[in-house]
Amino acid sequence: MDNADKKIILSGIKPSGALTLGSYIGAIKNWVALSDEYECYYMLADLHAITVRQDPDTLRETTLQQIAQYVAAGLDPEKNVLFIQSHVPAHAELGWVLSCYTMFGELSRMTQFKDKSAKNADNINAGLFTYPSLMAADILIYQADLVPVGEDQKQHVEICRDIATRFNHIYGDTFKLPEPFIPKAGARVMSLQEPENKMSKSEQDNGGCICLLDKPEDIMKAFKRAVTDSDTSVRFDPETKPGVSNLIQIYSVCTGKPFAEIETEFDGKGYGAFKAAVGEAVVETLRPIREEATRLLDDRSYLEKIYTDGAALASYAANKTLRDVYQKVGFVKK
Ligand code: TYM
Repeated sequence: MDNADKKIILSGIKPSGALTLGSYIGAIKNWVALSDEYECYYMLADLHAITVRQDPDTLRETTLQQIAQYVAAGLDPEKNVLFIQSHVPAHAELGWVLSCYTMFGELSRMTQFKDKSAKNADNINAGLFTYPSLMAADILIYQADLVPVGEDQKQHVEICRDIATRFNHIYGDTFKLPEPFIPKAGARVMSLQEPENKMSKSEQDNGGCICLLDKPEDIMKAFKRAVTDSDTSVRFDPETKPGVSNLIQIYSVCTGKPFAEIETEFDGKGYGAFKAAVGEAVVETLRPIREEATRLLDDRSYLEKIYTDGAALASYAANKTLRDVYQKVGFVKK
């Protein structure tokens, strides 16, 4: 199929830490699965990352590591546009325009803003608040049809649709309305230590989070220590058995086995055997990604070529929408 006939995808991840099993299962795995069928733009959302204070050298290094992991996870740079958000200034430019069409009340209702301001009480900055306007710009600037994300980003895709609808209503058809694409299993991978909370890169030290580049022995250790419950049956029931249900979900995604088959497989076997099996399935899923990412990280010029070519292609598409928007809001043509 010619690219012109394909529907468009945009998604991204903040390079604010190592990529986690949550972001792999919730997002990247689907990106890979969709990349033949769609014209895909996958970015490293570094502009978004600085809404929380980052160490500059670490951010630079994590960004490069993340590109290597995108490719190692199966995103072919010949088929997907892989780029760094700050290399395409049109995102920030459209982000500003859209912030003028986003309401204070709407932003105040964002769950992520409330969570992050509670966690970073000494740095509740304006960027953290207007984050959804920039994220809307990321999506709308490519006229994306689909946005593959985990459950926690659904609200941001919804506000993006509201902003687009408001703008289209004032200026006529300008933006396509995107749909979120949320996986059936794995939309919300939970912490291995506190299974009532989402697995997130901020809890790398307590064994609750698995990262794509973790060593097999560390992954096994984390799964063996994973919090379960005082029952003994391997049964999917997120309400009363959040830890076990999370492990079932992870095992299902890594092996392709349905939940019922997993329950039968571990019937009467106890949690020890189950946790070890989940750990092994994750180790085997991540092993090729870790090995390939490590190899790619030694080839910095190849990584540089990927993000340079990516930014050129992305800029071309993004500037087309930006020009239309500038014209519609009344800016004088350069
Ligand atoms: P970020 O960087 O927090 O997360 C990246 C992606 O991974 C998904 N995810 C999870 N899915 C399931 N279980 C988990 N535990 C888990 N943790 C993370 C997230 O849902 C997300 O899809 N605002 C975005 C980045 C962004 C973006 C965009 C995404 C910026 N602009 C435009 C889509 C479109 C973010 O903070 O994701």
